[in-house]
Amino acid sequence: MPSPSPDRPTGAHPGPPPDGALLSVRDLRISFHGTEAVRGVSFDVRPREVLALVGESGAGKSLTARALLGMVPAGATVTGSVLPDLSAERGRRITLVPQDALSALSPVHPVGDQLAAAVRSVRRVSRREARALAVAALDRVGIPDAGRRARAYPHEFSGGMRQRAVIAMATVNEPDIVVADEPTTALDAERRELALRVLTEQREAVGASLVLVTHDLEAVRGHADRMLVMYAGRAVELGPAREVLDRPRAPYTAGLLASLPRPDGPRLRRLPVLTGTPPAPGTLPPGCAFAPRCALADDRCRVAEPEPVQAEAGRHVACHHSAELPGAPEEQPV
Ligand SMILES: Nc1ncnc2c1ncn2[C@@H]1O[C@H](COP(=O)(O)OP(=O)(O)OP(=O)(O)O)[C@@H](O)[C@H]1O
Ligand code: SF4
Ligand SMILES: [Mg+2]
Repeated sequence: MPSPSPDRPTGAHPGPPPDGALLSVRDLRISFHGTEAVRGVSFDVRPREVLALVGESGAGKSLTARALLGMVPAGATVTGSVLPDLSAERGRRITLVPQDALSALSPVHPVGDQLAAAVRSVRRVSRREARALAVAALDRVGIPDAGRRARAYPHEFSGGMRQRAVIAMATVNEPDIVVADEPTTALDAERRELALRVLTEQREAVGASLVLVTHDLEAVRGHADRMLVMYAGRAVELGPAREVLDRPRAPYTAGLLASLPRPDGPRLRRLPVLTGTPPAPGTLPPGCAFAPRCALADDRCRVAEPEPVQAEAGRHVACHHSAELPGAPEEQPV
């Protein structure tokens, strides 16, 4: 494996990811001063899919998502591979919709100018063409009177409008992958669903995949094809979103879900809701990091950390006892 570089994942040589995946993450590890915050995460991003990254605060979602763009914080050491490395083509093949739309826009330039500049940074088009593309992008995300609004400054936009402008910015150059890190947390509930719909519509329109970091499991149910559940820097569960939500195979996922009101059945109520808090990096218990909070934990769990294994077709779970969950198909013990 190539030596780690401070600002982007290693293994950065160009090369096709396996099995038709658009992007392939293998054994991604991100540490700060020798303490690992992301501890060996592997997953693929498939063409045109919406992949949700979920898990409690501090699980390593943002670090993982940003590693796809080569945008980990200063001081981070990254090992493992993200292939291909799209960081050099950030803004064209891979883009970011950040949590805070205001910070993504410059306060001193009109919104349309910023979009046109983004277009001209990756495409050889005239100013006039770039302008037209910028206005069209604003129009597509539902900004009324886009030609006129393009001349406005970000502070003249409402929160919802700003978020739409940032979505326009992230999709105007028709990227392969859009990474959205809690793109709607700054908005109220009503605008949140709207912004998410705009985001998923736009990525569909440009044929991009979406990696969506979110705490909102209802949004995952509504919008994601697959989901990756992270806990204490590890991937504990990966699979089709509906299947994982309906039949979680990791106690942690079940715990996350048990805290939600579920009109569609009492099945998951057999599992306790989450209590306590996740461990901070560097303070992990021995064995499974979830063991202190897990109702199924036994001696084995307190000694050996489980590795992700294929629990059933298309689903990976890291848990010694995943076969004992109510979601496990009886005919298919792990
Ligand atoms: N710049 C940094 N310096 C030191 N440690 C960091 C830094 N950024 C992240 N970490 C560590 O990595 C952990 C995971 O961070 P990350 O931002 O990926 O979490 P997250 O899952 O996105 O959480 P949240 O839901 O709160 O956004 C943090 O809890 C922190 O311990
Ligand atoms: S490995 Fe053990 S402690 Fe960890 S989630 Fe599974 S049952 Fe719980
Ligand atoms: Mg985060």
